[in-house]
Amino acid sequence: MCYTIPAIVEGVHKGKATISYFGERKEAICEFVHLSPGDYVYAQGGYVVEKISPVQAQKTLKAWKDVFFELRKIDAVSAALDSSDISSNRILQGILERARKNIIPSKEEALYLLNLEDAQSRLLVRRSANYLRQQYHNNSCCVHGILEISNICARDCGYCGISSSSGAVRYRMSLDEIIAAAGEAINKFGFKSLVLQSGEECGYSLDELVNIVASIKKKFPVLIFISFGEIGIKGLKQLYAAGSRGLLLRFETSNPALYKKLHPGCNLDSRLDHLRAAYEMGYLIITGGLIGLPGATKEDLVNDIILTSSLHAEMFSFGPFLPHPSTLLAAFPAPAEQDVLGVLSLARLMCAEKAKILVTTAYETLSSSARQNGLIAGGNSIMVNVTPLKYRSLYNIYPHRAHEDETLAQQVRQALAMLKSLGRGPTDLGSN
Ligand code: 5AD
Repeated sequence: MCYTIPAIVEGVHKGKATISYFGERKEAICEFVHLSPGDYVYAQGGYVVEKISPVQAQKTLKAWKDVFFELRKIDAVSAALDSSDISSNRILQGILERARKNIIPSKEEALYLLNLEDAQSRLLVRRSANYLRQQYHNNSCCVHGILEISNICARDCGYCGISSSSGAVRYRMSLDEIIAAAGEAINKFGFKSLVLQSGEECGYSLDELVNIVASIKKKFPVLIFISFGEIGIKGLKQLYAAGSRGLLLRFETSNPALYKKLHPGCNLDSRLDHLRAAYEMGYLIITGGLIGLPGATKEDLVNDIILTSSLHAEMFSFGPFLPHPSTLLAAFPAPAEQDVLGVLSLARLMCAEKAKILVTTAYETLSSSARQNGLIAGGNSIMVNVTPLKYRSLYNIYPHRAHEDETLAQQVRQALAMLKSLGRGPTDLGSN
């Protein structure tokens, strides 16, 4: 949404600031900071998260000015379509032409796109998705940090390596450890958005979780997403009051029978009620599902995308199912990379304007070129794992997670170089 380079405030009206990035205007809620025109700020997810000094801002802006427009040019050139982007398949060509004019594919058309087999047709779908991404979102790429504060979990999801019956070795970070890890990500590496993640009923009481969120908010200028499972309406309210403004909660699959089968004792409606209640409270929503779950059909995947959109997701989070040896689904295969890309690009065609689309760590675990491939197939978001190395491998929802052994410095360096090579600008990672 916004470049996390500094923006200048042009006006403030009823709790909303009009801010400008090199002349490009955006709106941002300023409930956390008192602002006047001429102030410089960092904004994130539609919120102003920090006011900074003019000296600091101008120094950063000077360093960014040329790079900013240079990166945009690289991206615009690579996303442009030409005469080679025309299919002789008239059905496909029609769907893509309409999608590029913002006519959303019907369910049948979406299914048709997911079922395409030949490489050339699939490439054309991805190229159209990339074109739409560039048209609506320019070259911005969100880079959220994710901090996995506990792998304790009361649920027994059939695919998950940290489910209650998986026999996983458990950890729970102390408040001091959490503050130290958040501080490193925010102060040293410039993250402006953090997702705090754990299993469900993760070994902290609600009061402790509230204290964690409030302590981070008190110490650091950051937009906090919570991802503690179905925390309950009371939990959502209290965590909002503590300062969190986003919720990451996947519904996993839109197929109610499959949901029930894979999540013993739980049901899809309760999950969806949660997501809807959170949206009503004002949370930014990140949600989505698993790609290639055993028992899920392509039609289920189309429904997953439609459901994500109807939940007002500001970010789509779809990643491949990866078999974990200590789960019931150990023997089932992961989906092919092209199926993952098919879902990302279809999501972009169906929700061109609004969606941030995440290239997930699960996809990165499936393919070493996931980020590059995903970002040129409609994706415009990545996450960097800021969990301390000593805990990182214990959060093994699936085996051999990408970046499991990399320091935060290595991950940030790699992510920035990769984005630069594609002409993308990181939007949640500051430039300090
Ligand atoms: N493969 C891929 N993703 C998984 N998750 C859990 N287990 C797996 C797996 N085996 C995902 C779920 C959950 C998120 C935190 O991790 O979708 O929502």
